[in-house]
Parts: sequence; structure tokens; C-alpha cells
Amino acid sequence: MITVETLTKSYGGFVAVDDITFTARPGRVTGFLGPNGAGKSTTLRILVGLTPATSGSATISGRDFVTIPNPGRQVGVLLDASAQHAGRTGREILTIAQRFMGLPKGRVEEMLDLVSLTPEEAGRRVRNYSLGMRQRLGIATALIGEPEVLVLDEPANGLDPAGIRWMRGLLRDYADQGGTVLLSSHLLHEIEVIADDLVVIGNGRIVAQGSKRELLQTAGSLVRTGDQATLTRALTESGVTSAPAGTGALLAQAEAEHVGKIAFAAGVPVIELRPADGAGLEEIFLHLTSDTQRDSSTTPEGAAA
Ligand SMILES: Nc1ncnc2c1ncn2[C@@H]1O[C@H](COP(=O)(O)OP(=O)(O)O)[C@@H](O)[C@H]1O
Ligand SMILES: [Mg+2]
Repeated sequence: MITVETLTKSYGGFVAVDDITFTARPGRVTGFLGPNGAGKSTTLRILVGLTPATSGSATISGRDFVTIPNPGRQVGVLLDASAQHAGRTGREILTIAQRFMGLPKGRVEEMLDLVSLTPEEAGRRVRNYSLGMRQRLGIATALIGEPEVLVLDEPANGLDPAGIRWMRGLLRDYADQGGTVLLSSHLLHEIEVIADDLVVIGNGRIVAQGSKRELLQTAGSLVRTGDQATLTRALTESGVTSAPAGTGALLAQAEAEHVGKIAFAAGVPVIELRPADGAGLEEIFLHLTSDTQRDSSTTPEGAAA
């Protein structure tokens, strides 16, 4: 169980993580979703004791990561696959982890098998690994201590489609056996397939959270008009809440017919009007990525910043 409570992180006057609260539960894969610069890595770094929080807390099974003895046995962590010692071979890195955690020797070969690194690859120096191989090695290192909790920052980066499918299967099995998985991604589609629960973050704040089923069943209607401001006002006056949903659309919490009548009464021409269905989450996410993405110039697409 991972518990994040009213967590805030400021860098000078800049609030990177702004009062966020969520849990990741055993037996479930929790997807931590948000555009680049949203605050995902900062949150995960605080969770594993690499960055101090400004206020609030982030605990694993009720404890601060730094107070857990032999943490690798409790929490598997993969934050930056490129941070592994480039001069060591994959097998050496796993062997160091195996000894450090006091695990049986056989775990090294088991892990190499699990992540499909061949003996030849395991004997190669990490500087000669592709990003995908580094991710596999990182996952092996995270899993070697048989932890109950896994924390993975953008683990799909650098994996090819077969690798992504493999990782999904692995995380699914791990959660089905009772493990807690928290993984981040800046791509909705990547996480939609694997996550049971979702925590969506933008500009350091949580904008949506709940089970994937709940979030994908977003009720209401999507409406696109030439005059968003007037329609928003008219909806509010009729007691219908609405929120901008990217590319000029509004997500209104009412049936399409009702929204159409309100627009008509307000004299606002409607360009598009339909039930939101599962589109709610996608629209929220699009809105985040189009309007409020920070950092787009400093964080390259796909970078595990
Ligand atoms: N050490 C730091 N000093 C100043 N700003 C930082 C630092 N680390 C992260 N940030 C800023 O905090 C915001 C969130 O970053 P990050 O947590 O890496 O986002 P994500 O992982 O969601 O892409 C970004 O705007 C980033 O530039
Ligand atoms: Mg990041």
C-alpha cells in the first residue's frame, strides 16, 4: 500500500507538486498519468526518499522509505533506467543487488530469465544496452528482492510494442498475486490497458482519480460551440456543471438533449454535441496536454525527466 497525503513540493517559488493525496492499493495496478512536467517523477522521487517533501507525506506500508530496513525486499524501484552503472554488465548489477539484499545466488539467473536477457546480453556492459534492455534490467533489479510494492517511472519508455506487452503481462501477474504497482506514464493509451486505478495529474495537481472503470464511464456530454463562454454561463445558470475539454469543447454534466436545449435557449450555435461516453478521460487529458503542459521546451517527448 502506498499512501500519499497532502504532498507538496516547491522549488523556490515554483510548486512542482501541489497538495496531492492518493493511495495505491495491493492487488491493483495504479497508473499515475500526466503530461511531461506534471510532477510525476518528483512525487515518485519523494516516495522513495530521493527528494525531501516541502510538506505532507508519502509512505509505503505506513513507513517512510528511508526508515525501511533492506528496502529492496519491500519496494522495487525503477526511476531512471539510464542511471545504472554503464561500466558494469547486467549480470554484475543484478549480482550486486542479490548480495546486498542477502538473496540466494539463483535469483540472478531467475531474473535474467524473467526479463529475457540472454547470457550474452547479461555479459555485456550496460553502456552497450539499448534503452529497452536497460528497462528490462531495471525491472529485473526492481523485482529481485521479491518486494510487495513496485514503483516504476515511465517503464514503457524505450520498449518496443512486444516489450510493452510483455511488461503489461508481468505487472498484471504481479498485482494478481497481491502486489502493489504504481507506474507513471505521460501516455493515456499506454496506461489505459494495464491500470486498474488511475491518478491523473496536471500542473502538480490531481485532476481526476478513481478506478479506470469509473473514469472511463464519465457521464455527461461533449459539446463544441462557437461561443464557449456564453454556453458555459448558460449551463451554469441552469445548474449544469461543465469544464473545458480541449480543442474548444466543453464536457457538460448533463444529457445531450438537455445541453442542446440550453444552448438553443441561449442562442449559441452548436457545432458538435454527443454523449461523452469514455471520452471524458481522454478529453481531460487532451486539455491538460494542450493548454497546461509545462516544460515542453526543456523535457523532450518521452524523457523520464
Ligand atoms: N530539482 C528541480 N528544481 C527545479 N524544478 C524542478 C526540479 N525537478 C523538477 N522540477 C520541475 O518540476 C516540474 C515537475 O517535474 P517532474 O516531476 O519531473 O514532472 P514529470 O515527471 O511529470 O514529467 C517540472 O516543471 C520540472 O521542471
Ligand atoms: Mg518524469
